[in-house]
Amino acid sequence: MNIRLLMTPIPLDKADVEEKTVVVIDVLRATTSICAALMAGAKGVIATPGPGEAGDMRAKLGGDGVVLAGERNGVRIENFHLGNSPSEFTDETVGGMHVIMTTTNGTLALNRANKGKHVITAGLVNMSRVVEAVAREKEDLLLVCSGREGHFSIEDTICGGMLIHRLTERFGDELQLNDAASLALLLYRTNQDNFHEAIARGEHARFLASIGFEQDIAIATRVDSMPVLPVLRDGRLVNEVE
Ligand code: MLT
Repeated sequence: MNIRLLMTPIPLDKADVEEKTVVVIDVLRATTSICAALMAGAKGVIATPGPGEAGDMRAKLGGDGVVLAGERNGVRIENFHLGNSPSEFTDETVGGMHVIMTTTNGTLALNRANKGKHVITAGLVNMSRVVEAVAREKEDLLLVCSGREGHFSIEDTICGGMLIHRLTERFGDELQLNDAASLALLLYRTNQDNFHEAIARGEHARFLASIGFEQDIAIATRVDSMPVLPVLRDGRLVNEVE
């Protein structure tokens, strides 16, 4: 089983993702919020690269049963119902609804990766569900860290490293890692007893804390607290029932 990790989604083209199981990671906060939306009973999450496409999608689906969510510079986009805090996705706000989501890095990465054979989103909050799914399929994996505006982010790389670590426990030497995957594994193992702190010290966590979203970092680093498996089907992320 080959595991290739990309520390940022740029460059990423069709040839990178075709015929692969692609796991998109944006711990702070898009792929955590996607889990929160599905945990809260959203029918599905449609990720669009920008607010314009989100509005077009809403018009296409009709306004009823649709919630617009997302952020730019960390805060809710004007005229959107919700921002990108996982705590905003509740039964009341998204239960039974479709969520159209656009975020700075996470939904952009998803849109770049959406031609994969299987597309899954992962955070720390749904780690075990993702590990089970990819271990069952046992196909070559592409892990796409959303990063931060084209740059490395510690939280996504630690999350990718934890996923690889869990897979090494099952498959040992059968795994062939690219160098970025080896580095992610090393980063996770070096920080495994205090990865919350390592993430909280990271650039994006510090930024989120500075604009009042410190609580989101605690939510996003609770491993397996949201046991859903978001998989892309017909353009929307839905929870694959166990
Ligand atoms: C992103 O996609 O860039 C993030 O989810 C940003 C955030 O809301 O913290």
